[in-house]
Amino acid sequence: MRVLVTGGAGFIGANFVQQTVRERPDVDVTVLDALTYAGDRSSLAPVADRITFVEGSVADADLVDGLVAEADAVVHFAAESHNDNSLHDPSPFVRTNLVGTYTLLEAVRRHGVRFHHISTDEVYGDLPLDTPERFTADTPYNPSSPYSSTKAGSDLLVRAWVRSFGVEATISNCSNNYGPYQHVEKFIPRQITNLIDGVRPRLYGAGLNVRDWIHVEDHNAAVWTILERGRVGETYLIGADGETNNLQVVRTLLEIFGRDADDFDHVNDRPGHDLRYAIDASRLRDELGWSPRYTDFRSGLEATVGWYRSNEAWWRPVKAAVEARYAESGQ
Ligand code: NAD
Ligand code: TYD
Repeated sequence: MRVLVTGGAGFIGANFVQQTVRERPDVDVTVLDALTYAGDRSSLAPVADRITFVEGSVADADLVDGLVAEADAVVHFAAESHNDNSLHDPSPFVRTNLVGTYTLLEAVRRHGVRFHHISTDEVYGDLPLDTPERFTADTPYNPSSPYSSTKAGSDLLVRAWVRSFGVEATISNCSNNYGPYQHVEKFIPRQITNLIDGVRPRLYGAGLNVRDWIHVEDHNAAVWTILERGRVGETYLIGADGETNNLQVVRTLLEIFGRDADDFDHVNDRPGHDLRYAIDASRLRDELGWSPRYTDFRSGLEATVGWYRSNEAWWRPVKAAVEARYAESGQ
């Protein structure tokens, strides 16, 4: 099987490629990645001699057409992925998330190639705190930020190409991922690398916002499950019952680092900050038989802390610039 992985030099994509090479020697992987600030070829170093790497954009129709023509399936991770950046400059979000997805859809339509679209639970907006309510595939779309609205738009493009043109596609909407190779602009790696540097973690607002954390390897195992057993045209929500508020995450990290429980700072809140995400993954669990392996969040976090301690050369070059940008927003 020949799989074209877009965004394979990013956080989730690089983990997907490494996992695939490790566990599925019969799969031939080609990565298409534009190597934006978020992409890093060194995240693919452990498997560099086992894959084909192409530098380029998913919005480049000629390049995409040639690569899709050679593939049996496309797994589409490439995106602009950070909410805070989307509040400062939405334009690359529109180009990559909307025009890029459209470009890929036209190519898979022409060549009759199976397509899996990676999306987020943020397309559903947010939920109130302290209710049992969770997102399902029937929850109405209600995105809050330029990031989540462009992801929502890309999901709708996929659905339209399935219905109108018979494209063989599936969609997954996953909750917040954590694990190795995540950019230090994101919440968990930012706090881990702050703590390694002896700097206090930074909590937006009161820190009561809830995210439904899942380990990146569990997300990627679910993607393979959907590729192999998912029903074409279907949407699958991926989550591992990992609801935790941001304050609890920071307190757990402080404990892991042996620091005082109140050794953090409250900083400016994010405008439009979604309150709570929570996933009902029963379709994926019951119909496709997937279940997560990382069920203990604290030990998953400890392993992630270990990875950032051992891989300082990977994140150190970008840390100061990320912090300088946050400082401009009082965060
Ligand atoms: P990331 O920002 O770490 O990586 C994105 C990758 O896409 C980078 O390698 C970047 O170079 C590449 N890219 C960006 N624009 C491109 C373009 N025009 N052409 C080709 N490549 C381009 O993102 P991530 O956290 O790994 O997220 C991957 C996917 O998973 C995204 O679609 C995101 O919406 C989705 N998702 C992420 C999470 C999460 O918690 N991180 C949760 C659910 C869904
Ligand atoms: P983030 O990792 O940006 O993911 P998302 O916006 O997709 O949920 O943020 C996760 C949560 O952490 C979110 O509620 C915002 C919050 N946050 C902080 O409290 N401090 C930080 O320094 C960052 C980057 C995020």
